Amino acid sequence: MASGGDAPLRVTWSLRPAVGIVVLLSLTPAVRASVSENASISMPAMHHFEDKFGCLRDNPANIYCVAKTVIKPDENSPVWKLIERNSREHTNYRHYILDRGFCLQSCQTLVRGLSEDQQKRYDHEVVQVDEFHIFGPGYITGMEEYKRKYGSLVNVCLNYRLQQSYNLSGYSEIEHCMTAQELDKPVNILHVVFAVLYGTVLVLVMRATLLDFRVIRNHNNNHVVSDQPDSVWMEFSLKRSFRRLTVAPQTKIQRDFAYVEGFRVLTVLLISSVHTTMGFGISPMVNPEALEGLFGTAFMRMTAAIFPMLVHTFFTISGLLLAVNFLEFIETGPRFRWSLFFSGVLSRYLRMVPAYFVLWLYQISWSDRLGDGPFDYRITGVERQMCKINGWSNFLFINNYFNWDKGCMQQSWYMAADFQFYLVGMLIMMLIWRFPKSTKTLIALMMTFSILAPIVHVYVNNFAEVIQINFRHLRMYLFQYKSIGFDYILAHTNTSAYFSGIIAGIVYHRVQSDPKYLRTIPAYGILKRVAPLMVLAMAAPATLFYNTEPLEPSLWRSVYASVHRNFYGTMCGVALLYWATDGSWKIPALAKHPAVLAVGRLSFSVYLVQFNAIRAYFVDVDGDGIELNVVNFLRACGLVMLYSYVFGLLLCTTVELPVAAVIRRLQGFKKSTKTLNTSSNGTTDQDKLKAS
Ligand SMILES: *[C@@H]1O[C@H](CO)[C@@H](O)[C@H](O)[C@H]1NC(C)=O
Repeated sequence: MASGGDAPLRVTWSLRPAVGIVVLLSLTPAVRASVSENASISMPAMHHFEDKFGCLRDNPANIYCVAKTVIKPDENSPVWKLIERNSREHTNYRHYILDRGFCLQSCQTLVRGLSEDQQKRYDHEVVQVDEFHIFGPGYITGMEEYKRKYGSLVNVCLNYRLQQSYNLSGYSEIEHCMTAQELDKPVNILHVVFAVLYGTVLVLVMRATLLDFRVIRNHNNNHVVSDQPDSVWMEFSLKRSFRRLTVAPQTKIQRDFAYVEGFRVLTVLLISSVHTTMGFGISPMVNPEALEGLFGTAFMRMTAAIFPMLVHTFFTISGLLLAVNFLEFIETGPRFRWSLFFSGVLSRYLRMVPAYFVLWLYQISWSDRLGDGPFDYRITGVERQMCKINGWSNFLFINNYFNWDKGCMQQSWYMAADFQFYLVGMLIMMLIWRFPKSTKTLIALMMTFSILAPIVHVYVNNFAEVIQINFRHLRMYLFQYKSIGFDYILAHTNTSAYFSGIIAGIVYHRVQSDPKYLRTIPAYGILKRVAPLMVLAMAAPATLFYNTEPLEPSLWRSVYASVHRNFYGTMCGVALLYWATDGSWKIPALAKHPAVLAVGRLSFSVYLVQFNAIRAYFVDVDGDGIELNVVNFLRACGLVMLYSYVFGLLLCTTVELPVAAVIRRLQGFKKSTKTLNTSSNGTTDQDKLKAS
C-alpha cells in the first residue's frame, strides 16, 4: 500500500491546529523553536530519495542506489554549527548522516562533466563515525561489486552536490544498489515452501470447516456431538477455533482472571501505538525534528521511561498464571515427579512455536512483497536477511542473548525472555512442590535477585536511571543501543515483573483457602498505593537523566534504575492480585465481555504480525520521507491496528489455535496420568489444567 510522503499526504493539516490533542500537544513548542532557529539557514534533509521507478523503468540498464553521506565537521560553516547543535544530545538523530537515494546514471552524467582535478578533489577520504551508521555486508549481501565499481563515483557525485547546496564536504558510501530486473521479485524455493505449507493449512481448515458444518446439518441441531470420535484434523475447523476464542471462563481461576484479557487488549493497543511511533522514527521523515522535539519534552520523556515496561505487564500475567495453575494442580494430590518439569516446558515450547514458525517462514520469503519503496531494502530486506541467518536462535529462544545485534523479528525478544522466565518459574514451582517449607525462602530469593541483578548490571555497564528514547539507534537498529540490546531485552535483569507475578499467584492461592489472608500482609496494602505512585514519581524526572556528556558509573543511579523497574513489576503483581480478589468489583463488566475475551486471546498472534503491519505502512515512503503530523500519526496507528488484528486473527484461527489443539490431543493420547498444562497465553484459557 502506498503511504509515502508524496504530495497527497503532505496536504494534511499542519501541526498547530492540533493543539487540542493531548499527547501531540507537546509537538507545537518544539516545532516553533526549530522554525525560528532555521529562519535563515537550514540543515540538509536527513533523507532524500529520487524516484526509484522513474529511474529503473526509464532504461532497464539503470541502477538505483542508496548511499550514506557523513558530513565533515566545519567550524566555519553556520550550517555545520546548526547540524552540530541539533545532533549534540546523544539520543537525537545524527543530522550529519544523510540517506540519499539516486539513479546511478544521473551521477555518472554529473561526474563526467567534472574535470579530473575536480573529481579528485571531491573523492573525499573517510569521515570517521564512532557508532554503527551503515548496513555493511553482515546485513546486506551482494553489494561488494557495486561498491568496487561505483564507490568512488558515488563519493564524488554526492559530495559535489553537498558542496553545491550547503558548502559542506563529506564522505559518501553506497549502502544498497539494485537493478531493474530486481523489481520483478522472482519466486524462489522459500516462497514455494511457504506457499505449500500454508496452502496445506488452508486446505485443512476449509475441509474441517465444511465437514463441521455438515455434521450439524446431519444432526439437524445446533451443536456438534462432542463424544463422537473424530479425526484430529477436525481441530482445524474454523468453527472450533472461533469457539475457542469465545469460550466463557469455566473454573473459578479462569473467572477470577478473565479481566486479564481486557488488560491485554489495552496493553496491545498501547504497545501498538508506541511501535507505530517508532516506525516513524525508522522511516525516512520530512520532519525528524518534530519527533525529537516531541520526545525532548519532559512529559514524553517521562512516558518514554514507562512505555517500554508495558510489555512487562505480560510477564507478570505469565508468572501469575503459572503459579496459580501449578498450585491448583498440586492441590489435586499428584505424586511429585521431575518429569513434569520437562513435559511442562515441552508443552509450552510446542504451543509457542507453530505460529512463530509460520511467521518466520513468511519473513524469509513473501515479506519481499510488502512494498517497493526506495527504502524497502532496509524496512523489509535487512529483516529478511537477519531471519535467514539467525532465525535458528529464535527457535532455541535465546535470541535476546545471542545475535541480538542481528536479530530476526526484533519483537521476538519478548518470546525468548518469556520462555526463559518460564523455565525458571517452572523450576521454582517444582521446588515449592518438593519442599513446601522453602516457599518463603524462595520468595525472598526472588525478590533479592530482582533487586540486585539490575543494580549490578546497570552499574557495570553504566546505564541510565530510566530507559531513554534514542533516535540515532532507532534510525539504524534499535538494539545497537546498549541499554536496549544489553539490558532491556535480557531476562535476568528484568525478573521483577515475572517474579512478582509468581508471588502474586502464591498469595492468590492462599487467599482461596483463607479469605482474610491479604489483610495480614501489611506490605500488600502499602504497595497497592505506593507502587503506582513510585512508578510515576521515578519516571517523572526522566528528562533530567538525559545527559549530553557521558557520566561515571554510580551506585546511586544503578539503585534508582533497579528500584524503578521493581516498582513497575510490583505494581503489576499487586494490581492483578487486587483485581482478582477484593478489588474485583471495581473491574468494569466490559473487561470480561465475550468480545473482549476473544480479542484478548488474539494477543499473541497480533503481537507477532504487528511489525509487518508497521512495515507495510512505512515501506513505500519516498521523496524526503513521511511527515509526522496528527493526521498521519492517527492514520498510521489506525491502519497498523487494523492490519495487525486482521492478520493476527488469520494466524490465530488457522495456525495457533488448531495446532495447539492437535498437539494437546496427541499428548493426551500418550498419557493416561494427570498432566499439567500451565498455559498463560490467554488463547487456551479453556484448558489451563487438563486431567485426562
Ligand atoms: C564555504 O566554506 C568555506 C570553508 O568553511 C569558506 O571559507 C567559504 O567562504 C564558504 N563559501 C561560501 C560561498 O560561503
